[in-house]
Amino acid sequence: MTATILDGKKLASEIRKELSSKISSLSEGFTPILAVILVGENEASKIYVRNKKKAADEIGMGCEIIELASSIGENALLETIYELNDNPHINGIIVQLPLPPHINPLHILSAISPLKDVDGFNPYNAGLLACKEDNAIISATPKGILRLLKQSGVELSGKHAVVIGRSNIVGRPTSTLLLNQDCTVSITHSHTQNLPEIVKQADIIVAACGCPNLVKKDWVKEGAIVIDVGINKVDNKLCGDVDFTEVSSVASFITPVPGGVGPMTVAMLLENTFEAAIKQQSHHQHQHCKCKHCQS
Ligand code: GUN
Repeated sequence: MTATILDGKKLASEIRKELSSKISSLSEGFTPILAVILVGENEASKIYVRNKKKAADEIGMGCEIIELASSIGENALLETIYELNDNPHINGIIVQLPLPPHINPLHILSAISPLKDVDGFNPYNAGLLACKEDNAIISATPKGILRLLKQSGVELSGKHAVVIGRSNIVGRPTSTLLLNQDCTVSITHSHTQNLPEIVKQADIIVAACGCPNLVKKDWVKEGAIVIDVGINKVDNKLCGDVDFTEVSSVASFITPVPGGVGPMTVAMLLENTFEAAIKQQSHHQHQHCKCKHCQS
């Protein structure tokens, strides 16, 4: 078997195009705006933030980057978030992770208004997802993974999904999302015993552990769908958590790195921001809003 590529780059580009036309047909003077908070000098984070801004610019969405020194205290960072929560022109707020070690990310992410939490990292949205509530804002990477799986056309219900990794930003929410699609989900991690044997049982593999080329051909059942979330650099070359060359000979579908999950994450962030903006706009139109901005 030679796997069909799940082309995230192409799908993401189609999604951005659709968003672009939806934005251009919004009423005069209404442009959804995403605020991105970048704390410190993490080089990878700077690249990710630059990519998000470029993607927003290209579809006519506003994107304000707020750069803060790594020495900023938790309270000052919270104040920045409260101001953005209160600013009716800002529709989405994300804080690029990781944060410097003296800042507790949970304190910061919990402060983002759940309606503007377009990364879906506020525990309130994570909780709504866990309760299978339709109004949860779903994190961009898990949402992008689900779109790629749907793109394969394969029925998800009843399939055994094995997720490698249990991070708050990928492994956990992806597991929950797949459970909500009626998959049987195994969550594996660095303490898992017999990892290859468990992965071998999977109809769907989501590799999100940050271990270069970990998943080998003999870990993968013939015909499995393989989603590779890894972005690793080895000898200055990008690679995923899956040994693509080997595994593409046994999988039915596989995502490449780069060009798989990565572009989908950005597209889903833009989609979340657009949808949040629409909800907020209708709130302001229908509720005779009493907030200080609508009163003035
Ligand atoms: N760091 C790694 N991935 C992400 C992401 O999707 N959003 C944010 N805010 N930070 C990240």
